[in-house]
Amino acid sequence: MQMNDTKTYYIWPLGCQTNKSDGERVAAILDKMGYSRVDSDDNANIVAVVACAIRQSAVDRIYGKFRKWGKRQRDGELITILTGCVLPHDKKRLTPKFDLVFDIEDLPKLPLMLAQTSMEVTVDRRDQMEYFDIKPIRNSSFRAWVPIMKGCDKFCTYCAVPYTRGRERSRSSAEILKEVESLIDEGYKDIHLLGQNVNSYGMDNYNEITFAELMNQIASLDGNFWLRFHAPHPRDFTADVIEVIARHEKICSQINLPAQSGNNQVLRKMNRPYTREKYLEIIRDIKAGIPNVSLSTDIIVGFCDETEEQFLDSVSLMKECEYDMAFTAQYSMRPGTVAARRFEDNIDPDEKRRREDELTKVLEQTFTANQQKNVGKVDRILVEKYSKDHWLGRNEHFITVEFNAPEDAQLRGTFQNIELQKVAPFRFTGKLV
Ligand code: 5AD
Ligand code: SF4
Repeated sequence: MQMNDTKTYYIWPLGCQTNKSDGERVAAILDKMGYSRVDSDDNANIVAVVACAIRQSAVDRIYGKFRKWGKRQRDGELITILTGCVLPHDKKRLTPKFDLVFDIEDLPKLPLMLAQTSMEVTVDRRDQMEYFDIKPIRNSSFRAWVPIMKGCDKFCTYCAVPYTRGRERSRSSAEILKEVESLIDEGYKDIHLLGQNVNSYGMDNYNEITFAELMNQIASLDGNFWLRFHAPHPRDFTADVIEVIARHEKICSQINLPAQSGNNQVLRKMNRPYTREKYLEIIRDIKAGIPNVSLSTDIIVGFCDETEEQFLDSVSLMKECEYDMAFTAQYSMRPGTVAARRFEDNIDPDEKRRREDELTKVLEQTFTANQQKNVGKVDRILVEKYSKDHWLGRNEHFITVEFNAPEDAQLRGTFQNIELQKVAPFRFTGKLV
């Protein structure tokens, strides 16, 4: 295909922040090859899909796109690329549809791989560096995702990730610190450390520091920034993590601790190596150690054979933990996982939906009860954007706060003090002070 001056690419990351972060590195490579980024797949010359294998619905969305892309692809106007989390089962079926499919770890070889498709590209062989060495083109000028590890060794029976992202491997702490230092220099204010199990950081390498020490070293850097992390696993949630969060003001007192279920039988069947009691003990320790902490969780409803009684254990767990946020999901069978092989996906979709709706109602209650006491207080907000007729930002707990100020006030990416005036599920309305 003959390329003209307007060679463009569109990145479509599905799912979690890790995929968005991977998308930023794919963008860096395509940019270096002379393509420019566009915000829509309508006329792009390259579409790069960073896929998510967590739920079937995300996979279905990718298939659906070929109704739109097929003609331009056949006419040689569009190159489609697939990377990210893809299960072997889906890879077999998706590969014939895409022009190029590659593992994200092979990203440095993307220019070479593209050269082998029909598209004319110039290959710069010096680009063959390690995946994490690629300096991402970030989507935001104030919020940055920093992967600290990849993969997952936990093999929860429902989950695709160990099959798509391979074994846990930690990035070197020296490299992470270097990346964070340069982010702070560039003025980034909200730094998110990413990994499937961030608190297993360093466990694959005896010479590495622990996750708590990594956070300690980052939070000890000079600068005006917030530090967060996603997501820990209850199994390795040690006291030093609580202690380091409590000690450093820069580490946001916000923790997402995935419970997945509140019932011990279901947890066992999920291969989650803790009990409800142990989970609640960790939550108690967190609340005692970090007084102003905001908690969230991940919960799956309708896992194979989940009874009403077992589901009600998740409801009571949610009430007891008093979360501010929960990422609830209806169980989706993933081909190739232990659950797909051994158990039956036998909870009716309507019933799964009902259970999820019920958890959302509990969450609205706990959020409102928790946050009502903050009305009237002045909170520090990192301002994100102007939307419709007001500004939006987030506080330390990652809760959205909206307030009025002129559209041209240049507040994007700055910290502001806002008096919280009203609370509604999952957001505050406030006033600039
Ligand atoms: N079905 C539904 N939700 C899932 N998750 C992982 N695998 C599945 C699945 N097969 C959820 C878990 C996990 C989050 C990232 O996605 O709650 O914590
Ligand atoms: Fe999936 Fe479990 Fe690993 Fe999380 S810990 S990525 S849910 S296998």
